[in-house]
Amino acid sequence: MRRLPEFALESYFARWEFTARHHLCPSDMQSMTLGELLALATPDQREAWDQLWLGYTETRGAPALRAAIAGTYDGPQGGLTADDVLVTVGAEEGIFLALQALLGPDDHAVVLTPTYQSLESVTASLCAVTGVLLEPAPDAAGGWALDPDRLAASLRPNTRAILLNLPHNPTGYLPTRAVFDAVVDIARSRGIWILSDEVYRGLERRPEDRLPAIAEAYERGLSIGVLSKAYGLPGLRLGWLACRDRDLLRRIERLKDYTTICSPAPSEALGVIALGARDRILARNQALIAANLPLLEAFFARHADRFEWQAPAAGCIAYPRYRGAEGVEAFTADVVERSGVLLLPASVYRSTLGPVPADRFRIGFGRTKTPSALAALEAHLAAA
Ligand SMILES: Cc1ncc(COP(=O)(O)O)c(C=O)c1O
Repeated sequence: MRRLPEFALESYFARWEFTARHHLCPSDMQSMTLGELLALATPDQREAWDQLWLGYTETRGAPALRAAIAGTYDGPQGGLTADDVLVTVGAEEGIFLALQALLGPDDHAVVLTPTYQSLESVTASLCAVTGVLLEPAPDAAGGWALDPDRLAASLRPNTRAILLNLPHNPTGYLPTRAVFDAVVDIARSRGIWILSDEVYRGLERRPEDRLPAIAEAYERGLSIGVLSKAYGLPGLRLGWLACRDRDLLRRIERLKDYTTICSPAPSEALGVIALGARDRILARNQALIAANLPLLEAFFARHADRFEWQAPAAGCIAYPRYRGAEGVEAFTADVVERSGVLLLPASVYRSTLGPVPADRFRIGFGRTKTPSALAALEAHLAAA
């Protein structure tokens, strides 16, 4: 494995996330207090929490938690069982371990660009990688498009994995079912694994657009899930891998012995509570997005000379274009330094695999404070 480069997005956040007054680019939904989460517990779950034993937990994850996770894959394709699930510490550990287990120096992988950096950098530290660009597509729902033919053209005889992130960070892109099926068909015809980061699954604008999880749709599909984003519980550091290939899951489990060994017992117990209240938490979060999005629509309509905006098809982040002459890097630096409003410039999504848009910025709209952060951005524009 080659040395990993600096994680541009996390370094930027290390500088600003907890110092900027207004966080207008969070990747996750509004969180909650421990008390609020415990209030959602059934009497049995509350009892389990009060009696929680703070020993090591099972490396694969507590059986009750794995069963609850499996219960979230309830599609018409037959669903999954607790034995198809491996619990990880955040999605980040799932990405890291799955790629270690799947890829070696003789392999080739394909990744969508721009992308959440670990999907590109961890892969590139293990094998050859080709980036397939997500293209702006003003006529498509959500404003972005993936061309399955270009993806097929990027494959090599030794391509072992295609990495997807659907719904996508930072664009909110969600393919149509036809494009999704085309990608699965391409992979299946060559026996290629698909690893799909599905941390925004559950935040589709229209429920009927939700795609099957790749672990349900494809026998060589590995789904990455987490409580951090759609559920707004990143402090639990509770993620998972779901896959119907038990041998691969076992190999990943043995790698986990070298990273975290097991997930924190309190997080596992709280994760069971959160998944038990899944519908209520997701409904709350969808309602928050539904309240915030019109404010963004109106803001970008008022400032159409400065920005190009299209509401994303899913998720709680978007990647609008900045049209100002000084460029998006100077703009975002000025906004955070003078007005304390944090946006993520395109440079944190730079890629070593080819050109990616350099005039975009990430905005997040999953928080109760999104309206006041947006108002601070508007005040900045008015003062400029
Ligand atoms: C697409 C994507 N995958 C994975 C992660 C890592 O998630 P976690 O914090 O749960 O490890 C993030 C975090 O921003 C993300 O946006």
